[in-house]
Amino acid sequence: MTEPIMPSDRRAVTRETAERRTHPRDVFIEFREVHKAYGKKQVLRGANLQIYRGEVMVILGGSGTGKSVTIRHMLGLEIPDSGRVLVEDEDITDFPEEELYPVRMKFGMLFQSGALFDSMTVFENIAYPLREHTELSEEEITSAVKEKLELVSLPNTEKLMPVDLSGGMRKRVSLARSIVLDPKVILYDEPTTGLDPITSHKINEMITDLQAKLNVTSVVVTHDIQSAFSVGDRIAFLNEGVFEWVGSMQDARDSDHPLLREFLKSSAVMAAQPTR
Ligand SMILES: Nc1ncnc2c1ncn2[C@@H]1O[C@H](COP(=O)(O)OP(=O)(O)OP(=O)(O)O)[C@@H](O)[C@H]1O
Ligand SMILES: [Mg+2]
Repeated sequence: MTEPIMPSDRRAVTRETAERRTHPRDVFIEFREVHKAYGKKQVLRGANLQIYRGEVMVILGGSGTGKSVTIRHMLGLEIPDSGRVLVEDEDITDFPEEELYPVRMKFGMLFQSGALFDSMTVFENIAYPLREHTELSEEEITSAVKEKLELVSLPNTEKLMPVDLSGGMRKRVSLARSIVLDPKVILYDEPTTGLDPITSHKINEMITDLQAKLNVTSVVVTHDIQSAFSVGDRIAFLNEGVFEWVGSMQDARDSDHPLLREFLKSSAVMAAQPTR
């Protein structure tokens, strides 16, 4: 007999579908012994990582350790010097550009900068990928944009210009744009960096909310430990070119990995209660 599920356990419902129980380790993205250097600088040195379908994986690591480089490998924007990158069991390492196109369509990417087109309205910013990649009618585009704006809690903002938006609103419009093509994976590069704590909190809530509503897999690159613990299912700690520690948020709290401990200690989160 299973326990009745309360509304507040909505995320648990998504996670505990029959499918997930039969295939508890359905790997969506995999790195096998990935090496990558730029000139003499060896960034990845045999990185191994598995990201499971439906989870929120947080990639944590110091500045310049290769977190953004890792994300670029997932999109086939970088090619490893050696090692393999797999997406949904497909080895994309040697894919030519045209075969990478459908792979990239599986991903929505939230860039750190937000990167909105300043001369376009909110509507046109979000509609842009639809105009570029689909044959949808104007009516369908309007309804898709409206739906995505509602998902990021910014209804009726279609006519605003980016300059009219606060930092948090810009992030949310960017997020709406990254999900407008209904990706299977959302990549967030430093989603809360540069935002005040209240706005950061809203963005974290949004990540969790989208995860439940869209049934996606998420990869969140962050320095922000509070954010990591509020959104993540697991942490992958990148150091010296490898994922030195990978595990659940709870195990991360109890880990005796010296550098990971130092990272986590730098925030009050060790003392805080688990968020779930
Ligand atoms: N195209 C490139 N050419 C040369 N060096 C690069 C390139 N891309 C990344 N690097 C170098 O690789 C290292 C890792 O870069 P990356 O941007 O992945 O770091 P990061 O972990 O995302 O850091 P941050 O937290 O500061 O964003 C850095 O030293 C960077 O200078
Ligand atoms: Mg980076």
